[in-house]
This record gives sequence, C-alpha cells and structure tokens, in this order.
Amino acid sequence: MSASNTTTPKRSYTFQATIDQIGPQVVAGHGVYISVEKDGQVYDGILDGITGAAVGALGWGDEEAFEIIVKAARNSTYSFPSLVSNKSSEELAKFYIENSPKGAFSAALWCGSGSESNENALRIIRQYWLERQLPNKIKLISRENSYHGFTLGAQSISWNPRVQPFEPYLMNRAVTNIKIPCAYSYRFKKNTETEEDYAKRLIAETEKIILDNDPDTIAALTVETLPGSSLGTCPPPKGYLKGLRDLCNKYDLLFHLDEVMCGTGRCNPYGKLNCWEGFLEPCDAPDIQTVGKTLGSGYITIAGVLIGPKIRDAFVHGSNSVVGGHTYASHAFNCAAALGIQEKIKRDHLALNIFNMGSRMGQMLRETVMATNNIAGDVRGIGGFWSIEFVQDRITKKPFDYSLNVGVQFKAICFENKLAVMGMPGNPDGSCGDRALLAPSFTITENNIEEIVKRVVKSVNELTQKLRNEGRF
Ligand SMILES: Cc1ncc(COP(=O)(O)O)c(C=O)c1O
Repeated sequence: MSASNTTTPKRSYTFQATIDQIGPQVVAGHGVYISVEKDGQVYDGILDGITGAAVGALGWGDEEAFEIIVKAARNSTYSFPSLVSNKSSEELAKFYIENSPKGAFSAALWCGSGSESNENALRIIRQYWLERQLPNKIKLISRENSYHGFTLGAQSISWNPRVQPFEPYLMNRAVTNIKIPCAYSYRFKKNTETEEDYAKRLIAETEKIILDNDPDTIAALTVETLPGSSLGTCPPPKGYLKGLRDLCNKYDLLFHLDEVMCGTGRCNPYGKLNCWEGFLEPCDAPDIQTVGKTLGSGYITIAGVLIGPKIRDAFVHGSNSVVGGHTYASHAFNCAAALGIQEKIKRDHLALNIFNMGSRMGQMLRETVMATNNIAGDVRGIGGFWSIEFVQDRITKKPFDYSLNVGVQFKAICFENKLAVMGMPGNPDGSCGDRALLAPSFTITENNIEEIVKRVVKSVNELTQKLRNEGRF
C-alpha cells in the first residue's frame, strides 16, 4: 500500500469512537477516492465505497460544489427562522416538492441532521393530532431492528441492541411505543412463501398489533423505506409498503417514511429523489418523510422533513403555526448550498447514474461473491445502496459469534485492500448477522464499480481464509 510518513500525535482531543486514540483521519478526497492518515501514515487511493455514511453524492473535491458553497456563503445572512425567514429555505422546499411526485408533499422544514429531522417529525406528528383535537393518539409504531438516529427521541422509535443501554432516558416506551416485525426476507421469508405472501403475513401481523393496541391511541407508523445500518438494505417485499399505507388509511395513522439514508437520489429507479417511488404510487405517498445525508452530499450539514398535504392542511386550518424551532433551522447558507448541489445532481442525471451503476454493482457482487464457498450469505440492496451479510453457513444462515466482530474485521481488511466500507456488527442474539454496507458516490463509473467488486471479493476471500484458519468457518 502506498504510504507517506507524517507525524501524528497519538492522544485524541475529541470525544468519539475510541476516545483515547486518534483513529483513521481523512486528509483529502478527489472524486471517488480518499486519502486516510492512520497510525502516522497517509494511505492514498482508497476507493470510497461508502461515502462516509452513505452521504456523498457528488464525490469529493468537486470544484462546482466549491463554487456553489462560496456563492451561498456570499449571499446568505443568518437569521432565526421563527422570527425572520430566508429565501433559500423556501427555494429548497419548492425544489424538493416540485421534483417529487405531484401532490405528495406540500411543505418542508430544514434542520441539521437526520436525527434532528426525526425529532422534528415526532413533534409534527404530535401537533397534528392536537390540531385535529385527538390528543389521545400518542403511540408510535416502528420496527424491530430499526435505526432512526442518535438523539433520545429518535432512539425511542428505534429498536436495535445499541439503544437498549439508554432505555431509562427514552420515552416511556411501554406506554408510547409499539414494535412491529421488520421486513427481512433473507431470514424471515419462508421458502414456501412468495414475496407477496411474506408481505401479506407481515401486514396481517401488523394489523393485529394495531388492533391489540387500540388504534384510537396510535399516532403514526414509521419505517425506513430501505433499512440502512441496522439491518443492511433489505428491500421491502412486494406489496409491503402499500399494505402499510393501507393500514394507516384504515386506522387513521400517519405514515412516516424515514429516507435519511436511502433517499434523496440514492435509490430511485427513475433518477428522481424518493426511494418509495419504486414501490408506491403518488397517491400512496407518505404523510411525512425525513431526509438527510445526500441532500448536502457531505459538503454541508443539512437534513429535512417533508410534509404531505394532509398534515399541512390540518395545521393551516388549525393553529396555522409552529411555535419555536432550532437556532439553525432553515439555515440560509445550508439551504442555498443544498439547492445548488441538488440542481447539479438533477442537471447531470447523477441519481440515474447511481441507480444504474449501483444496480450493476449489486448484480456483479451477487454473481462473483456468491459464486464460491465463503462467508457471504446474502447480497442485497437497491440502486446505490447494497449490503453483504456474513454467515457461518449458507444453508442454516447461522451468524458468526457476536464477539468475533466479523463486520468490523471485514472493514479493516477492506481498508488494507484500499476500499472504504461500513462494517456493522450482528445482533448479540443472532437475529441478524454481521454486515458490510456499500453506498458509493453518484458519480461512479463502470471502471469504479468493477474495481469495488474486485476489492470486495478479495476482502471476502481473505477474511474467509482467516476465519477458516481459526476454525471459525
Ligand atoms: C434511517 C436513518 N435515520 C436517521 C439517521 C440519523 O441521521 P444523523 O446521523 O444524520 O443524525 C440515520 C443515520 O444513519 C439513518 O440511517
């Protein structure tokens, strides 16, 4: 691996990851490659297969993005949006609404992170029921193995092992939260079932849970259209999202899609913005949707909440107001920069490129990784977002022992092979295996995807051999 020496202090002054050590630090990025400093050495030419956390759309060091940012900085004056708003936030909202299916959304608010967007969504959901004079509709449904953010409200609607230790500080979940099964075809679809059968079974189970919990007390149902880190890009089985939408209509619940990780161009078959457009007709659009990540493409920190006409109308015909807000909500500079970035993505058809290239990458991964006997049990995803789940045995799908940290080991081997991926641990109870996630830049080329696949296959083979030598596989 090419490396040049630098001096790096060992002690870290930041409170993150491994607290007392300086971990790998990105020092440069050009296109789909990054340079990373690790243990005093700089490693160039690392192919960025994950763009941070599925954030980068434009690739790194994009000259036009810098121009957009400079222009946005020159033309923006900070104001507190509750008191004085700005034109950029209006323009970004108009852009997102006009580039989504007609009638799906009618308003938007902008904030700083995906977690904040879900916190805001929860506030909007609560106020919506107050506006409709139905204060008892308080319960929030979300799925097993879900992740909706790092803040305590967002964690309260998340169900995954990493949330557990923080339970004392979450909502009173026994009262306000309801868990439904995840849609996880690889493990839970029976061999005798079609995708549609599996979806119907999940919908029937969800309906039973709704009925058991008094629908008149339920406020909303939240799912990730395509789950990200917590489950590893399991596509919703055919008919599943439509079935959830119908349940929400039947029992008067708000349908909330979290597209923070999978949305804003990463997984849309038509080169548009929303992942759900591949599964739902415009008339079945979510009532509320959260977005983030690729909205600012990593150049700025921005996320948002898209609000459907049903919710907007209830507010407008009720109090017609949102009292308060974050200091940096609708930040003019962030909104202007995000708008410029999204206009560039649209002009250059980059969302279509990532869908096509990403789909091809997924197909190549399936064909090559699954062709030999190794630790890969499943390759799954949509468009620009893919995962590999690792298992001890392809037939039984038995995950590796949690303590082996196979996902993290895989990430480290990929780094040695000059590929950045996200390695995620499995669940300690074995209900989900270790995973590696891929979400490259929207600008990737045929050569880039061939190179990603080559490096993934090499890494899978090397980890397989290591685990075999250790008697683990
Ligand atoms: C589905 C989903 N929702 C919300 C979030 C939280 O976003 P952020 O990390 O920007 O707060 C994430 C982050 O990965 C996510 O994947």
